[in-house]
Amino acid sequence: MRILLTGATGLIGSRLVQRLAGLGHTVTALSRSPDRARAALPDLDDAWLWRPGEATPPLQSLACDAVVHLAGESVAGRWSAAKKQRILESRREGTRELVQAIADAPDRPAALISASAVGYYGERGDAELQESDPPGEGFLPEVCVAWERAAQGAEALGLRVLRLRMGLVLDPDGGLLGESLPLARAGLGGPLGSGRQWWPWVHRDDVIAAMVAGVTGTAAGVWNVTAPQPVRQGDFARTLGRVLGRPAVLPAPAFALRLVLGGFADEPLLSRRALPVASQADGVRFAWPELEPALRDLLDR
Ligand SMILES: NC(=O)c1ccc[n+]([C@@H]2O[C@H](COP(=O)([O-])OP(=O)(O)OC[C@H]3O[C@@H](n4cnc5c(N)ncnc54)[C@H](OP(=O)(O)O)[C@@H]3O)[C@@H](O)[C@H]2O)c1
Repeated sequence: MRILLTGATGLIGSRLVQRLAGLGHTVTALSRSPDRARAALPDLDDAWLWRPGEATPPLQSLACDAVVHLAGESVAGRWSAAKKQRILESRREGTRELVQAIADAPDRPAALISASAVGYYGERGDAELQESDPPGEGFLPEVCVAWERAAQGAEALGLRVLRLRMGLVLDPDGGLLGESLPLARAGLGGPLGSGRQWWPWVHRDDVIAAMVAGVTGTAAGVWNVTAPQPVRQGDFARTLGRVLGRPAVLPAPAFALRLVLGGFADEPLLSRRALPVASQADGVRFAWPELEPALRDLLDR
């Protein structure tokens, strides 16, 4: 297949490029820095310039079988008013522009696989959440609803649209795990707040596998891409401490957490017990359903 990625240079995208190319697909990218993308990702067949929020992507980039849309301003860092605007606009306007270009392209792809996040659900206590549940309240639910709605615009063009609500992707190279490792290694990775909030974690390899299944399969709608066994944050902290050989008994002080994670600091306090119900029903298999083996694999312990 010929597959176009946005956000190919990111934590998830760069691994996906490698996997798709390894499977024999032709992978191209839209990037704000196509030269940097080509240099960083030797598996890319081609890359075009696109700055989401400023213009529609070049139409020739859409001569492909499927588009995987991952681009968006990182949610990590301090959430100033300007940063929140970038988080929302890069996704809402960016996705609208992408769908507009698909509408205008002489050769249209057949599928759009668009990233979303468990941020969709907001704060939900102990409720078990599946894909059919309504969105929560707050900034991240607002972003995810706007992002998904924009992606669904491609349905009217006849595309198969699959939205992937990803959980907290565990990867020692970045994201929540990568950023919090220094604290955990210092023995400060203990409970955050009550520690009773549910963390919808997922091993990075299971995310890539779900994306490959989404691109090459026939499913449409929404998939939660989260491990089948979410854990409470306190259990996550204890398990991580055990894997690192650093008992995580001391609660992470809120100020230290904010220092390391910036505005991201509120996200780990939210409880979202998301379950991959529709994704598993559609045949997605999670190689890493349990946290401890997943962390041991990721941290080589
Ligand atoms: N990692 C997670 O735990 C997680 C969980 C749930 C959902 N997600 C979502 O999945 C997607 C990919 O995640 P990731 O962790 O791989 O993200 P990432 O490492 O932050 O990469 C995102 C990519 O988007 C592009 N980008 C960055 N800022 C942008 C902006 N202001 N406007 C437009 N494009 C911008 C960049 O590509 P170029 O520089 O090449 O343009 C970047 O490589 C994101 O949309 C993220 O919100 C991630």
